[in-house]
Amino acid sequence: MVYSQNQSTKAQKKIRVTDFPAKKEKGEKITALTCYDASFARLLEQSDLDAVLVGDSLGNVIQGLSTTIPVTVSQVAYHVKCVAAALKTPLLIGDMPFGSAGVSLELTSAHAAELMRAGAESVKIEGATPEILKHIEFLVSHGIPVMGHIGLQPQSVHAIGGFKVQGKDPLGRDTLLRQAYSLQEAGCFSIVLELVEHDLAKEVSSKLSIPTIGIGSGNECDGNILVLQDMLGMNESFRPKFLKHFAHLDQEIKKAVGLYCQEVKAKTSEP
Ligand code: KIV
Repeated sequence: MVYSQNQSTKAQKKIRVTDFPAKKEKGEKITALTCYDASFARLLEQSDLDAVLVGDSLGNVIQGLSTTIPVTVSQVAYHVKCVAAALKTPLLIGDMPFGSAGVSLELTSAHAAELMRAGAESVKIEGATPEILKHIEFLVSHGIPVMGHIGLQPQSVHAIGGFKVQGKDPLGRDTLLRQAYSLQEAGCFSIVLELVEHDLAKEVSSKLSIPTIGIGSGNECDGNILVLQDMLGMNESFRPKFLKHFAHLDQEIKKAVGLYCQEVKAKTSEP
């Protein structure tokens, strides 16, 4: 029986939101991945990652849903708690799920506080409507660091008509650039650019003083983020154009489980 799996194997400097601007200034790329549980968090803790996001993508990855819309604040908080138990060095970001920000200042604050109490060190909010911007300013002025998220906003998938590349037409480009400036002005320490035309993502990144973190937006953002299980190749059939598999864990896992079944039947599965 394993009683504790959280052994620290390194002494690295804690990454904080205040390290983000310096990284951008030095041209040091920011590395980020999502994570939803302590076993993966323990492995990520032994990497060089700068940031870990407990994303509402847990709806897709953990719950098997086709959108992130049903994910609740308490579900994100539960997974933040699991990750926080094993992750110390990278910055831990908790995602504000659908409907949790932008309705009223009281609700946005209560939801952000729930994620911070669970162990998040910052929160991520999708969108840049006037209400969202006001709420971001409020959170930031009350000590809650906020990461913005524009481009494809999966929580608005029904309004935008699907998971499509953003910023293709001139109007879309202008809007995105304006949103990025507004989020910076509202006090975001960083902004996720999801599925943004690569040259636009590059332009936004060069114009902002805060770092951009891209997903499906090319290699010229100040950092990149991917969904952990996707980049590990745990679902070979999920292959959006931008996604590179850095491992093929589905093969490894299927092989190991097959071997285990064989060995149980052969009465050789225990040493
Ligand atoms: O929920 C999530 O995982 C995200 C990232 C893909 C940026 O928002």
